[in-house]
Formats: sequence, structure tokens, C-alpha cells
Amino acid sequence: MSLTTWRLPADRSPLRLLQLSDCHFLPQPGDTLMGVDTEKSFQAVLEALRRHPPWPPDLLLLTGDLVQEPLPPPYRRLHRYLAPLPCPWLALPGNHDDPRLLEQILCGDSHHCAGQVILGDAWQLIALDSHLPGSHAGRLAPSQLDWLRRCLERCRLPALITLHHPPIAVGSRWMDTMQLQNAETFWRRLEGHPQVKGIVFGHVHQAFNGRCRDIPLWSAPSTCFQFKPGSDDFALDALPPGWRWLELSPHGRLRTWVERLADLPGGLDFDAGGY
Ligand SMILES: [Fe+2]
Repeated sequence: MSLTTWRLPADRSPLRLLQLSDCHFLPQPGDTLMGVDTEKSFQAVLEALRRHPPWPPDLLLLTGDLVQEPLPPPYRRLHRYLAPLPCPWLALPGNHDDPRLLEQILCGDSHHCAGQVILGDAWQLIALDSHLPGSHAGRLAPSQLDWLRRCLERCRLPALITLHHPPIAVGSRWMDTMQLQNAETFWRRLEGHPQVKGIVFGHVHQAFNGRCRDIPLWSAPSTCFQFKPGSDDFALDALPPGWRWLELSPHGRLRTWVERLADLPGGLDFDAGGY
């Protein structure tokens, strides 16, 4: 996956980033996972978002597991929903994605994958690819870790880092076997860089809120089904699909909150034994 720096001209302050995560588009329209039509659920999320401010975001952040099976059709269907949106997006791969297909189908002139985004003259976003082929866990390749170091050394703007896999345990035994494997190296790369103001990830299908080495960490709910926080084994949570807003103000001030649909997605199967 190519790593580039791009600039997002920002005439608004604060800047608003919208995180959508773990959409799990399925091979065929109408297919279900955990009883849920994941595409329909994504559509409901977009419709709800469009209805009230702060829509549209200045940047849409898609933090991985955008499809369940890494095939072209679900990426193409997702692209059809994204293309008319009045904002640029940045899409990262998760364990269910194929980084190459994702880049080919979802990224282009004003839409990007892993890399660095300079947001106006106030913030930078560093997006990392933690996809580890053949595994549900994640790993940052040396090229990603070098890129992170270079971004932080050459740019002192307040930084938000984003990746699919959590670089800490979230307190859920089965999920924590699939976290970022080389998290220790990742955290060492952040030492001496007080401009890092937060880390945003997906993967856990819940609204996690934590802190490590004095840096806050957040995740977004999934746009389809949710996992129960603190659960030792696979368990679904009875919460509706949701998303996270991140509001970035000058001087590194950041405010974030989660919103959800009013209702659970139709068909949600609480007896599903895993995914
Ligand atoms: Fe994942």
C-alpha cells in the first residue's frame, strides 16, 4: 500500500472527522452476517448522518474491515455509496480486507489509503496499515513504522494516529488475541513526540475509550453489529450501529463523541456463535 502525504485545505475550524468502521460488506447484495444485512445497515447509517449537522464531515475516516470477504464486488458496492458524498475519505484495511483491492477500488485522486494528511495548518493525521496477511491480528510492517517515525520527526503539528487494530488490550479476552502484535514497538516510536494527541482504531465493534502512556485512545462502533465489551468469549451486544465524530480545534484541542441509530439492525441473531 503506497504511503503519501496529502494536504486537506481547511477553511473551517474546528475540523470535523467522521469515523465509520467495520462495515463488513458481503459478497452479494442482501447477504447477511449475524442475521444482519450489513449493506442495508450502512445505508441506514448514512441516511441518519445526512439528516443533521455536523454533516458533512471535512474528512471521512473508514477504519477497516470494510468488507467481509476480500472480493471486488463488495468494494465496488461500497464505492457506490461513497462516491456521491460531499467529502474526501481515507480508507484503511482491516484483517478482512485485501489492501491491494481496497486501494485499487476505493482510493484515487482525492481519496486515500494509508499515509499522512496535513489538515489545514493545525493538525496532521497519520494513517497506518496494520493488515497482517492470513491473520485476524494486526502488525505494523517496518515500512509503516518508519513512515510513522518520519511523519512525527518532520511535522510537529498536533497528530492523530489511526489504524485498524487496537495497540492495547480492550479488556475482552477473545478480541485481545487479535490486537496489534508489535504494539510495544509502536509505542516506542511515539516516545519523545508529545504532539500525538490521540489514537483512533476500529476492529472491536464497540465504542472503546482508554488511555495509554498519557495518550487517549478511541474506537468506533461498527456500522452493522456490535461486540459486547469486557466479554471473555464471542458475544454480541444489544446496541445499534453507530459512528464516531472527532472535532479538531487549533492548538491540539480535540473533542470526540459517539452517535448511534435509534434501533438495532433487523434480523440480528444473538445465538450466532462467532464470525
Ligand atoms: Fe477487524
